[in-house]
Amino acid sequence: MNNIKEQIKPPEQIALTEAAYKTLEEMYETARQCKRCPLCKTRTNVVLFRGNPQAKLMLIGEGPGQYEDETGLPFVGKAGQLLDKILASQEIDRDKDIYICNVVKCRPPGNRVPEKQEIEQCRGYLEAQIELIQPPLILLAGATALQSVLNVKYPISKVRGKWFDFKNGAKVMPIFHPSYLLRNDSREVGSPKWLMWQDIKEVKRQLQVISGHTI
Ligand code: URA
Repeated sequence: MNNIKEQIKPPEQIALTEAAYKTLEEMYETARQCKRCPLCKTRTNVVLFRGNPQAKLMLIGEGPGQYEDETGLPFVGKAGQLLDKILASQEIDRDKDIYICNVVKCRPPGNRVPEKQEIEQCRGYLEAQIELIQPPLILLAGATALQSVLNVKYPISKVRGKWFDFKNGAKVMPIFHPSYLLRNDSREVGSPKWLMWQDIKEVKRQLQVISGHTI
């Protein structure tokens, strides 16, 4: 007979699926108490989202940094401020027109890239966000988001700006991570910042198509 300890897995080891939550609030409540991975030991706040859950556009980043950990809100540091500017340049309102979240919900110490295990333990929360919000358009900011959501290892520079089909008829577009743009300040034609502006223009175009506006 199997050892009972092997039969009954503690909750930390049970894979979460999107079906585990009926509402976002239910998921937020669970995530705020989460101890599924060691990031819970060093976090100040669990960082779940900012923006509008009814928005047609979702952006998924990597994970919270220092300011995000302190405030409990994603993309509020320097990278977030740049992101807000880029969105505003296309009249995409940061509070009304987009729902912003991350692959991992707790800050990796020293802002290191989240480890595979941490991403896996957090996956159910991100899946619940996608499933419950059902955004028609999803932006994957940076390599961690690209790899975690589409399970591919392409360099962002090769796939950015292109729409890929996703589940439930959604489209996803990989884009540069705003922190990368902070390190590459040039606005020359063909520079990462310039390319990001082209990509966000395309996002705006698709938002207009979805909402039935002629362009
Ligand atoms: N970088 C991210 O990927 N997410 C944040 O919330 C902040 C910085």
